[in-house]
Amino acid sequence: MDVTVGRVLFTEEQIRAKAKEVAAQINEDYKGESLYLVGTLRGALVWMADIMKEITLDTEIDFIVASSYKGTESTGVVTVKKDVEGDVAGKNVIIIEDIVDTGTTLYKLLDYFRGRGAKSVEICSMLSKPSRRKAPVEPKYNGFVIDDLFVIGYGLDYDQRFRNLPFVGVAELR
Ligand code: IMP
Ligand code: MG
Repeated sequence: MDVTVGRVLFTEEQIRAKAKEVAAQINEDYKGESLYLVGTLRGALVWMADIMKEITLDTEIDFIVASSYKGTESTGVVTVKKDVEGDVAGKNVIIIEDIVDTGTTLYKLLDYFRGRGAKSVEICSMLSKPSRRKAPVEPKYNGFVIDDLFVIGYGLDYDQRFRNLPFVGVAELR
């Protein structure tokens, strides 16, 4: 089976404009506070770069690598393969994510950061597929809601490929 790039869902211009909007809301909501942005590698890289450039608050950035092994049931086991390097206690953590699918990964990460004494923990995702949700998690900040499609580009991969595409497109299996 091979995968090719199907139709473009969101262009770079559309995504950057949306990042501006989302970041403006964050700037407003956290006025007078500082932020601790945690990007989930590798997918969130490009969206995170767009978001952070629009943030006008005092901001630190960090990264985490989490992977979820999904069984046949709705319970996924999430392992942290690379932890954040800073201390999140007392910080306003915003997890920057490429896409919220079942929500399993973020459900665990929310818990993880709350358990380490973060002052607040929210999610800022580029995309969300609400129809796929299994865990009760909704991003407070989200770029675009999409249908149940497998998408690639702008950080998102299919088997580690296509992350470099400067747009989000639908993966076409053939
Ligand atoms: P969740 O725990 O099911 O929400 O998994 C979310 C993760 O699965 C995302 O951070 C992505 O890495 C990956 N993922 C989910 N849907 C897609 C997609 O359509 N394209 C590429 N990766 C996806
Ligand atoms: Mg991810």
